[in-house]
Amino acid sequence: MKFYAPLFLASLFVAAQCFYVPEEWLKKHGYNVKKNTSSRHLHGKNRINPKKSGGDVIPVGPFSDDFTQWLETAGYADYNFPSLHLGINASYGGKEFKDQELKHNPVIFIHGNSDGALDDGTEFSSGFSATIKYFLSKGYTSAELYAVTWGDRKLDKSFTRIHSCATLKRLRKFVEAVMEYTNVEQVDIIAHSMGVTLARQIIKGGAVLDLTEICELGRTIKYNVKTFLGIAAANYGLCMCDIDTATKLPVCGVRVGFFPGSSCKKHEDSSVSCASATKQDKCEPSYSHILMGINGDIPEFFGSMVREGENIFSFWSEEDEIVGSNSVWGRKTSFIPLSNGFKVFPNMKHHQLKTDTVAEQYKAIVECTV
Ligand SMILES: *[C@@H]1O[C@H](CO)[C@@H](O)[C@H](O)[C@H]1NC(C)=O
Ligand SMILES: *[C@@H]1O[C@H](CO)[C@@H](O)[C@H](O)[C@H]1NC(C)=O
Repeated sequence: MKFYAPLFLASLFVAAQCFYVPEEWLKKHGYNVKKNTSSRHLHGKNRINPKKSGGDVIPVGPFSDDFTQWLETAGYADYNFPSLHLGINASYGGKEFKDQELKHNPVIFIHGNSDGALDDGTEFSSGFSATIKYFLSKGYTSAELYAVTWGDRKLDKSFTRIHSCATLKRLRKFVEAVMEYTNVEQVDIIAHSMGVTLARQIIKGGAVLDLTEICELGRTIKYNVKTFLGIAAANYGLCMCDIDTATKLPVCGVRVGFFPGSSCKKHEDSSVSCASATKQDKCEPSYSHILMGINGDIPEFFGSMVREGENIFSFWSEEDEIVGSNSVWGRKTSFIPLSNGFKVFPNMKHHQLKTDTVAEQYKAIVECTV
């Protein structure tokens, strides 16, 4: 009985997609389900008003005073989006004055594991400073560019980070907050690395089962995303996360980490390996539950895959020191399955894909093409 209350509530929330997790499945996978539901109604109108531009400036956090104050009064104080304990580089965005008009769709940036909103001067924590700087130089304003930090940016904790309910709920609320604050129906999202799979889940909405709880993210917000750009993602997991690693390191975990599956087919061994398998092997691995859910690979439990935006683009490199050659059981792990287009950047490292492709990111968002 205990299992059904949250699931029943969850099913009430999710109108656009049908979500149902049978008790048997939960038991078999060892879930100890704790109830938590949350949802917020989205509303608003598009604002279009061409006016002044930004200039070639280096973005400086934190959020503007106007946005900071608005977050307090609009009921978002508990989420601590400014995260000032992590410094001024932990957040960016907001109107410079109350009645500042927007002329572009707001862009929301979701960083990867150990990273943050803006560059904090440390390795692997360059944030979205380069992208924001480029967008500002093209006439965007801080009222149209929003970045938040999830996690504590500590590199030595990177193996502990998972697609947790806490992180997902907080990021989902951030997207809702930006939409409400800017009074728009649609935003653009640029995500990097683990930020891509976090973003895909919050756009999909619905229930999530992490290591300790079940949470409900609310209805899908796929119609509220115009362009979704995912850079250097691990949508099918990472080959470095073998089963031994998966049991030791949460980030590689079977439920909410980047476990890629331990064999090409679900119940049989074959000679191919995670990285060497090709499309012709037609692998159907049983991989990370959350990733299978996002990719629609277990529709009976997690519903079908949603299109994460009107336009979806994927960027990657096949010389990425984290993602490797990008092949995971014969699939490109950085390819978001319903992408309208993708771009492969030769010789780029994991963070370079974010900092050195700013013109291509701008093109994807503004021209909706790659
Ligand atoms: C449910 O989520 C809210 C906000 O995300 C949090 O404040 C609350 O403590 C959670 N409740 C439980 C029982 O986990
Ligand atoms: C913010 O980042 C800059 C580098 O972009 C760095 O010099 C500065 O110390 C950082 N500030 C804080 C408070 O972390």
